[in-house]
Amino acid sequence: MDKLKICGNGPLNGEIRVSGAKNAALPILCTSLLTADTMRFTNVPMLRDISTTQKLLQGMGVRVMTDNVHEMEITADHLDSLVAPYDLVKTMRASILVLGPTLARFGEATVSLPGGCAIGSRPVDQHIKGLVAMGAEVVIEHGYVKAKAKRLRGAHIVMDVVTVGGTENLLMAAALADGTTILENAAREPEVTDLANCLVAMGARISGIGTNRLVVEGVDKLHGCEYAIMPDRIEAGTFLVAAAITQGHLILRNAAPRSMESVLDKLVEAGAVVEAGDDWISLDMKRRPKAINFRTLPYPAFPTDMQAQLMTLNCVAEGTGVVTETIFENRFMHVPELNRMGARIEVEGNTAVVHGVDKLSGATVMATDLRASASLVLAGLVAQGETIVDRIYHLDRGYEYIEKKLGAVGAQIERIS
Ligand code: EPZ
Repeated sequence: MDKLKICGNGPLNGEIRVSGAKNAALPILCTSLLTADTMRFTNVPMLRDISTTQKLLQGMGVRVMTDNVHEMEITADHLDSLVAPYDLVKTMRASILVLGPTLARFGEATVSLPGGCAIGSRPVDQHIKGLVAMGAEVVIEHGYVKAKAKRLRGAHIVMDVVTVGGTENLLMAAALADGTTILENAAREPEVTDLANCLVAMGARISGIGTNRLVVEGVDKLHGCEYAIMPDRIEAGTFLVAAAITQGHLILRNAAPRSMESVLDKLVEAGAVVEAGDDWISLDMKRRPKAINFRTLPYPAFPTDMQAQLMTLNCVAEGTGVVTETIFENRFMHVPELNRMGARIEVEGNTAVVHGVDKLSGATVMATDLRASASLVLAGLVAQGETIVDRIYHLDRGYEYIEKKLGAVGAQIERIS
């Protein structure tokens, strides 16, 4: 099993190209289920979750071509199977995203019910509630969600919680439904907007894009298109924290600064000088970071996917920062590992109080989920001595060539078996 070995090596300096966004690519690849035409995607990140999606689609009979790095051509002119099996869903919960489009186009879909995971119980009741409101018959049997509907029909759906995946599933389903669907309390995450823009490029009729009220007038057919996946705001944010904690200077290219304002604001509050253009961000840090307080909430507020990384910044900051996690009930798994590296974090319920320390010390630590792993890599960049991050298959789900990207700007980091 691969591990990362990191030695604190001073400030990072240079330029990094941001990859395409994992969390936009996963739903957007599933749009190919909505049309018999070929879909061509560019800026696709080469990640484990993308290969899992590829396997999932191929298992259903979809043709996937990946001749060029970061490009994919997908044709779902027919399907051999309308089932997303347990073996794949258990490795990637986002597999639930095939439910809406498969049901809408083929009248039937069976998807293994994702279980809980390291960060929380993560139910999918809102996905199901929406599909039922659109006329689907849904039963849960033997651990599978089985949904049927000759043709989905438009409905007025008020979601009980703001859910990214739920909004995405229902948006794809509504695109081919009969009549108008209104999704209230919809997620406004930039990845939802990217999906909506892709659907529009396929001929879908959606208004309210970027707001919490999406109105979708269903059409009979969607057509193929070429679509470039948006840049990954969480990968970008992770690199900016790397620059901030090492007191370095990084310029990120192919970035989407407008999708990450809450994160950029927090980095400025911590003492960084941040500049941005349309597709680049630069961060210069000339001092020890100041501790910051933040609370995770749906977009446009501070994202849960950056909580662990900013927690690492607080670990080495001047002062005490209070971090509140409101999206997932168990997303502090990195805390005991950071404490093993000399951090001083106390957790009470969904709040972590982080007292900044002068130095972290390298240790062997265990990655428990994707963003927790990223926080440990960041800690390794400023720890004294050697840090080994174990179980980095979690990291490979969401960070493309991370050791190469960080190595190229001065980090001492290598992958070992
Ligand atoms: C997406 O997960 C992301 N994954 C997550 O990224 C991210 O942390 C999360 O959104 C929140 O921003 C992808 O986009 C593939 P949710 P998703 O449905 O869609 C509750 C990462 O590190 N809920 O918005 O599964 C749920 O339990 C990750 O890249 C219900 O109660 O998240 C949670 O508390 C991990 N019922 C909250 O809503 C439902 O039917 C938000 O979950 C659905 C969700």
